[in-house]
Amino acid sequence: MLILGIESTCDETACAIVENGRNILSNIVSSQIDLHKEFGGVVPELACRRHVDVMLPILDQALTEANKSLKDIDAIAVARGPGLIGALLLGLQTAKTLSFALNKPLIGINHIEAHLYAAIMSHDQKITYPALGVVLSGGHTALVLIKDIGHYHLIGQTIDDAIGEAFDKVAKMLNLPYPGGPQIEQLAKKGNPQKFALKPGRVKNRPFDFSFSGLKTSVLYNAFGQNVTQRRPLSEQEMCDVAASFQAAALKDIFDKTLLAAKEQGCHTIIFGGGVTNNDTLRQMFNNSNYNYLWPSKGLSLDNAAMIAGLGYHKFLAGEIANLSLEAATSISF
Ligand code: KG4
Ligand code: ZN
Repeated sequence: MLILGIESTCDETACAIVENGRNILSNIVSSQIDLHKEFGGVVPELACRRHVDVMLPILDQALTEANKSLKDIDAIAVARGPGLIGALLLGLQTAKTLSFALNKPLIGINHIEAHLYAAIMSHDQKITYPALGVVLSGGHTALVLIKDIGHYHLIGQTIDDAIGEAFDKVAKMLNLPYPGGPQIEQLAKKGNPQKFALKPGRVKNRPFDFSFSGLKTSVLYNAFGQNVTQRRPLSEQEMCDVAASFQAAALKDIFDKTLLAAKEQGCHTIIFGGGVTNNDTLRQMFNNSNYNYLWPSKGLSLDNAAMIAGLGYHKFLAGEIANLSLEAATSISF
């Protein structure tokens, strides 16, 4: 079964064609980093305009690369949220139009669920459920009990910033361009992670929730002193030390809470999803302990449409077919 996936939740426009939920025939992503770089974050209006410009060329490219035409497609899966409302509407409208014109089933996909599925489709192994899902993206941070594909129970989540957002904001403090995660990771390699004693946030009586906004503020004070309005320029080594200390504190928090949750929930398999899983330091940390870890392949870590098409196959088999009244959802919880 061939599914066309469409992704436009934030600043990537993507189309992919995936066979039977796993075999990726094409996976085209048009990133907007060049557009948002100078603003230190995604500008929604600019994102929408770019989605309009590139959506159809990206669709054509996905078909050409897969050596398929629209009539070969069996169903259309689209990320219906969470994300920026205007950006979501563009993907949704494209998917609905194709579904209507071609008379093919339409499937609405939760982008966050798809991030976890990206790791599942990256491996051939049969997964023993329940597994622990760890969502580490630019907009979300959550620990989820996965009872099966499509069946989840939320264990914990961030009460303020997402982990990727915290990386991006710390990078912005250091005058580094968006997206900040990869920049911080590179600087951290040359820095001393113990230079600043930074503590990740704890949420009272909720051991599996995250809070990164306090950590972000202590990075600011530690790097620039209390008088943040008159920031002195940091030396290159100081920048590296700030990046290393922040990254060490943030990743240790993820590490500790993930292993605690896996132990408490009796999960032996841990499935990771979201753009922050691109971080090799994070991957190395986890590979030192005794669980079965499933990471998305590097091409499926960041936003992409292969994960949307892949998960779409399972939703189709489960009979979860939408109609033209399918709505965009700026937030969806597990
Ligand atoms: O999952 P994603 O592509 O988009 C959302 O659904 O949000 O994640 C993007 C996030 C950005 O915040 C970016 O800075 C972060 O992933 N990221 C990283 C790395 N690569 C991307 N964070 C830390 N280290 C990285 N190497
Ligand atoms: Zn994402």
